[in-house]
Amino acid sequence: MRLANQVVVIVGGGSGIGLAVAKLAHREGTNTIILGRTLSKLEQAKDSIGENTKAIAIDVMDEAAVTQAFDKIGDFDHLFISAQDASTASLSTTTIEKLRPTLDSKIWGALQVVKHGVSQMRVGGSITFISGLAGRRGYPGFAVAGAANAGIEAVARNLAVELAPIRVNTVCAGVIDTEMLDKVFGEKRGEIVEAISNKLPVKRIGKPEEIADAVLFLMSNGFVTGATLLVDGGDALV
Ligand SMILES: NC(=O)c1ccc[n+]([C@@H]2O[C@H](COP(=O)([O-])OP(=O)(O)OC[C@H]3O[C@@H](n4cnc5c(N)ncnc54)[C@H](OP(=O)(O)O)[C@@H]3O)[C@@H](O)[C@H]2O)c1
Repeated sequence: MRLANQVVVIVGGGSGIGLAVAKLAHREGTNTIILGRTLSKLEQAKDSIGENTKAIAIDVMDEAAVTQAFDKIGDFDHLFISAQDASTASLSTTTIEKLRPTLDSKIWGALQVVKHGVSQMRVGGSITFISGLAGRRGYPGFAVAGAANAGIEAVARNLAVELAPIRVNTVCAGVIDTEMLDKVFGEKRGEIVEAISNKLPVKRIGKPEEIADAVLFLMSNGFVTGATLLVDGGDALV
């Protein structure tokens, strides 16, 4: 029970990695508050997490709604932000308008959440972001997603200094089995996942629970700040 009785806020907690973090944090004895845009999804997620869980529907791009959400949340200990309105597409075949939310939600969304939440964080608190390998190397169609991933790691390092002693870290995840893969790989999800699995040293893609474990480590280890923890099944090596 590393975080017993603490309050953990998870922005993007209605599905995927955010939901896995909420479930693990709940098992560690925390009160969890999950945020996302779709109330029905959040309510379902809340029921799957257990008692002492709250759900608040907001779009991280709506600054007024973010402020109101933190009025409802009150004081809290740890923040994990996984919300991203992500899409991938080649620059030449799509519009800037369609690509913009991928960067805006990840960077400006996260900054708005931190800006309006941080004054309510208790002593010993931490912020954890999530990035991916597109921020470090090239994939067709990932220029904007790559900028978002590289950018959020830079945000974390700079805020780790600016907001100290609050600790700020990032988990850089490999390919993780969540709904986001449907959006990113579409109909080819199965064959792309198989090809990636064959290439990886661990011979499979990751589970959301494996990222949640890393997030809980960063929340609970008081000596880690400004770090980017790679949890990728060896993807960066191959
Ligand atoms: N899956 C991977 O392979 C992978 C790898 C590396 C990094 N990541 C990162 O991990 C994070 C989580 O991804 P995931 O795989 O867990 O996908 P996911 O299940 O789609 O989770 C994203 C969550 O964010 C919420 N969200 C999206 N836009 C939002 C907005 N504007 N305001 C508030 N909430 C918003 C979504 O709910 P609503 O749509 O209801 O708002 C959803 O619950 C992303 O930042 C992604 O870049 C994922």
